[in-house]
Amino acid sequence: MIKKIKVQAESTYRDKALINNSNMSWVLSHSVFIVMVLILIYDYTAWKSVLPYAGYFALGFFIITLALNPLIKIKSYLFLIKLNRYRRQLGVASFSYAVLHAGCFFIKRSIDGKWQYLLHPAILPVLILALPILFILAVTSNQYSIKKFSFPKWKKIHKAVYFAEIAIILHLLLAGHVLLAFLTFLPLISIQFLRRYNKNTVKS
Ligand code: HEM
Repeated sequence: MIKKIKVQAESTYRDKALINNSNMSWVLSHSVFIVMVLILIYDYTAWKSVLPYAGYFALGFFIITLALNPLIKIKSYLFLIKLNRYRRQLGVASFSYAVLHAGCFFIKRSIDGKWQYLLHPAILPVLILALPILFILAVTSNQYSIKKFSFPKWKKIHKAVYFAEIAIILHLLLAGHVLLAFLTFLPLISIQFLRRYNKNTVKS
């Protein structure tokens, strides 16, 4: 009985968490993205400035999206629960900015023709892991996919995000952005471990 109530509560929480789909939240999360695309359409040589900023936005949205669940499990502040209703927008925004960021890299390579850099150890993990995973997560972050796959299977698919996390850490470290990697991923990994630790101590 208790288990049934827990499952019901969890699914209500899930539904509510994924439900907020207002146009305003999409526009807000993608506003800078639209400006960056317009800048590139106007002057493609602006890729030099857009590349790092799109990278920062992709990273910021990625960290916030991943931090929300563990933070709520550790301390369920109302603002976190409210923000969690926009998880889909935050996750999709991370993917959009990452595509734009990678797009700038492709503009750069089409200018200098140095395509061998696609195989660089800093690029390969994000190219073959992070971007495809972020794409799959972006297109399956909806109620239709949860129903289609069933929640346990959907959750399993979404666990792939941890591979994307590793790929992005490698990307930053190997591109020489060691401080940025530490400042962003150390807090995230700490709360992810803390949540796991709390889960295990509650179980035992
Ligand atoms: C195929 C995918 C990607 C490509 C081709 C790519 C390419 C690059 C390149 C060329 C740089 C500049 C490295 C340097 O300093 O010389 C860079 C930096 C960076 N990337 Fe990526 N990246 C990709 C995916 C991602 C993803 C998924 C994220 C985050 C979610 C990300 C976040 C960043 C950040 C924050 C920087 C540092 C920006 C700076 O200060 O220059 N990248 N990336």
